[in-house]
Amino acid sequence: MSDQRQIFLDYAAATPLNDSVLKTMMPYLTNEFYNPSAGYQSAKRVRGAINESRRFAAHWLGVKPSEIIFTAGGTEANNLAINGVMSKYPDSEIIISSIEHESIREPANQYKCNEVPVDKNGIVDVAKLTKLITDKTVLVSAVYANNEIGTIQPLREIYAVIEKVRKSRLQKGNNLPIYLHSDACQAGNYLDLHVARLGVDFLTLNGGKIYGPKQSGALYIRAGIELAPLIRGGGQEQSLRSGTENVASCVGFGKALDMAQSMRVEESKRVSELRDEFVKMLQKNFPKIKINGSMKKRLPNNISATFPGVDNERLMMQLDEAGIMCSVGSACSASSDEPSHVLKAIGLTDEQAQSTLRFTLGRQTTKVETTKVIQKLKDILNG
Ligand SMILES: Cc1ncc(COP(=O)(O)O)c(C=O)c1O
Repeated sequence: MSDQRQIFLDYAAATPLNDSVLKTMMPYLTNEFYNPSAGYQSAKRVRGAINESRRFAAHWLGVKPSEIIFTAGGTEANNLAINGVMSKYPDSEIIISSIEHESIREPANQYKCNEVPVDKNGIVDVAKLTKLITDKTVLVSAVYANNEIGTIQPLREIYAVIEKVRKSRLQKGNNLPIYLHSDACQAGNYLDLHVARLGVDFLTLNGGKIYGPKQSGALYIRAGIELAPLIRGGGQEQSLRSGTENVASCVGFGKALDMAQSMRVEESKRVSELRDEFVKMLQKNFPKIKINGSMKKRLPNNISATFPGVDNERLMMQLDEAGIMCSVGSACSASSDEPSHVLKAIGLTDEQAQSTLRFTLGRQTTKVETTKVIQKLKDILNG
């Protein structure tokens, strides 16, 4: 962190740009400014850099580079997946989980949309999903790992349900496809992204959450699936997302993903140990506290904690004054005063939701920092 006195525990909202990522990007912000679609050697070099980045992403997803479309971040990739499918099949329906990010909820709600509930641990109820699928369902979207409570969804089980539907449609002569999309914006640092193991047809990735540049990311689109374009123009990114490529962003995203996935096993272990210690210290010092969401199927870096009777906005500001940054929920919905739909989906009351703080750890987090946070919480709450 730039300011050593500050403690940043909001890595689900933003991650600092990694030095090596910045170094990889720099030439494309300076000397290597050429339009990758131009015909001369210098431009071809730039095109080569974009393609190399695409190969990095394809490698970690176990797919062909042509199945990766670069986007300006997770929101755009989610919009491309949802609008791209739904506008191709005008009378069709979409199902999303009840704990999706706004960049899924908002586009999905433009169409006939059903929500599949999660259980009290924040895991999608797969049996209920099975019942919600109709002959008109064309897309199911379930977040890989939730941004507020960190719970990891059973994509493989959802895939199994979708496969059954596909078989039954084939027998019934229903030609409508059914696809599985997952928003993996929060997953890049900690989870396996191999799409064949996940069973997804679309996967959203976000560079801004993996120590890459903001407004960088990608959508994996299984080969052969046709989507309506998001932005029309000069035909870049397979005509799905026209416009001269943001080369530095594409290159930075590929480097960031490569680094994050290379260190993910080690970093998951380190961060989950830190997280577990932090949770223990919280529970010891504040016995009334409640940790939200499954502890087993959870991102290694997430702590969502309800402090009964405490105003979360106030506590967040008191921590901020002490140089500790955390969040009252999703940074992306911070403008809304409504209690979090995610916390309500797992059964919290409005009051409990408004007593909940999210701490998310990251590469720079240390035991010294988490211990200081506990001490400061003690000063404020027991004070
Ligand atoms: C799960 C999830 N999806 C989508 C997004 C949107 O990402 P961005 O704002 O970078 O487009 C976020 C950002 O917090 C997220 O956590």
